[in-house]
Amino acid sequence: MRPYSSSILRTYRLLSFTFVLLAALSGYAQSSSVADLGSAMPPNSYSASADWWKHAVIYEIYPRSFGDSNNDGTGDLAGITEHLAYLQSMGIDAIWLTPMFPSPQVDFGYDVSDYRNVDPQYGTLADFDRLVAEGNKHGIKIILDFVVNHTSDQHEWFKASTQSKNNPYRDFYIWRDGRATNLPPNNWTSCFGGSSWTLDPKTGQYYYHYFYPQQPDLNWRNPKVEKEMFDTMRWWFKRGVYGFRLDAVDSLFEDQKLTDNQPAAGTDAYGDPNQNHLYDHNLPEVHTELQKMRTVVDQYKGRVLIGETWTNTPAELAVYYGPHNNELQMPMYFNFTTINRLDAAMFREKIEAVEQNSVGGWPVFVLSNHDIHRQVDRYTPPGADKDKVAKLLAGMYLTLRGSAIMYYGEELGMANNDPTRREDVKDVIGQKGWPTEKGRDGGRTPMQWDATTNAGFNKGSTTWLPVGADYPTRNVAAEMADSSSVLNWYRHIIRLRRDNIAISEGDYRTVDVSNPNVLAYTRNAKGKTVLVLLNLSAENQDAVSLTSSLHKLSVLAATGATVEQTQANLQGFGVLIAEIN
Ligand code: GLC
Repeated sequence: MRPYSSSILRTYRLLSFTFVLLAALSGYAQSSSVADLGSAMPPNSYSASADWWKHAVIYEIYPRSFGDSNNDGTGDLAGITEHLAYLQSMGIDAIWLTPMFPSPQVDFGYDVSDYRNVDPQYGTLADFDRLVAEGNKHGIKIILDFVVNHTSDQHEWFKASTQSKNNPYRDFYIWRDGRATNLPPNNWTSCFGGSSWTLDPKTGQYYYHYFYPQQPDLNWRNPKVEKEMFDTMRWWFKRGVYGFRLDAVDSLFEDQKLTDNQPAAGTDAYGDPNQNHLYDHNLPEVHTELQKMRTVVDQYKGRVLIGETWTNTPAELAVYYGPHNNELQMPMYFNFTTINRLDAAMFREKIEAVEQNSVGGWPVFVLSNHDIHRQVDRYTPPGADKDKVAKLLAGMYLTLRGSAIMYYGEELGMANNDPTRREDVKDVIGQKGWPTEKGRDGGRTPMQWDATTNAGFNKGSTTWLPVGADYPTRNVAAEMADSSSVLNWYRHIIRLRRDNIAISEGDYRTVDVSNPNVLAYTRNAKGKTVLVLLNLSAENQDAVSLTSSLHKLSVLAATGATVEQTQANLQGFGVLIAEIN
């Protein structure tokens, strides 16, 4: 039985492709001898162009968890610099650092108390400059996380703003009178639980915070705020930074009349009634502001804006590119992270929707980050092999049209390591929401470098979060030495992305549109066509059976896939990437 062969056949005929499948498994496994693993990836030919980001693999690093050079248990900038050669060998073009600015660390850096410095836990500005300089040597650009929506309550601006109602910094934040005694100005709830208003007894007014009370929202309607933030961007650009990932950018503005949100069914993880966040989220002014911000960015060659853009529909996402591609170059498509099951139809539909809507824009399909559970855990069906699923997901997101943003450790197939006891939880979300919400610690555990104590993250006696229990076998050193590892699959696919113009630049076309198990598509550019077959099911899927031959298929990468003469067979979760010649 070939459940999908007939429809694939039909599609190819429509595209006028007839070909013989050659048993030419080019052997990604065989070619990856250990000797060749340490060698650096050839430079990315796009890296000097203004559009470098389109063809890049951007690697998200959580600085607390990547490398701990001073052995105090918390990662640091020097620890990242030490590992640049590894990132280069994998083919990483840029790293996005989650916030490393001075911070009380209530939200682990997403509460910034000074935008123009480095938190002493992570090092100094000199360490940062060294990271930039060494990054240049390794062909790796640095992108910072810009927490634009709010500061820490320990930021000098906020401390000043609490002094009196007429302090010059009062209007840097959103201060309002309560509705009545002990009643906040309206019903808006914080994303992290409770009211989004906190009363300041000293001045008798409430301040607004979309996140924790320690994260007061900036007032972007105040031109002085805008100026400070734009100047901050320039300051980092001059230091060699290549762009910013804009944190929580969709909550930059709130309705000025403070209209109540409408209630919605059910309660959230913190027990508050749900509400439709119509008046505190995604307001049109966000786009006007982003257009202004883009003019700042465009004064520096090749600089980029990535957005943490949670949207409900691809049409909403498309708006973030701007009417003339003059807002964000890379609004992240988060809807993709919510599929959470290996459902070919669902992935196909979401990819198609983005392809249709981001006309002129360039997609950014995201599967994972520091806020959500590790992708292998979200996608591996019970009892299935996590490594196979890790390779399957990489086979997809690294071959789709668009920029790829990956999260540290995904290349090893790192698992989520949720805390098992409330007293061990570090993330306040988990402390507040336990046990319904265990927080985000599980996806932020130290990078697993080798089989030594603390997985090579440091040589100290402690780590800020426990190292994943599987580190003795799941680590960079072990996976480097194993030609069939998840890591070597990543290295191989990333190299393909660089070398193969159809994958790096080509258009996207779905094939076999109604197949329930296999996601199949082609990428085409300058006369080259690459076919990607991804078996999203645990069952074997027999593939095409074509006899006439004008074209041949050269396999570029295969895992759990075999090709014999006229037929390709995909095992459960198997991947085949092949060029149609
Ligand atoms: C973003 C960050 C998240 C943080 C929140 C508040 O969603 O990704 O980690 O907690 O903003 O800054």
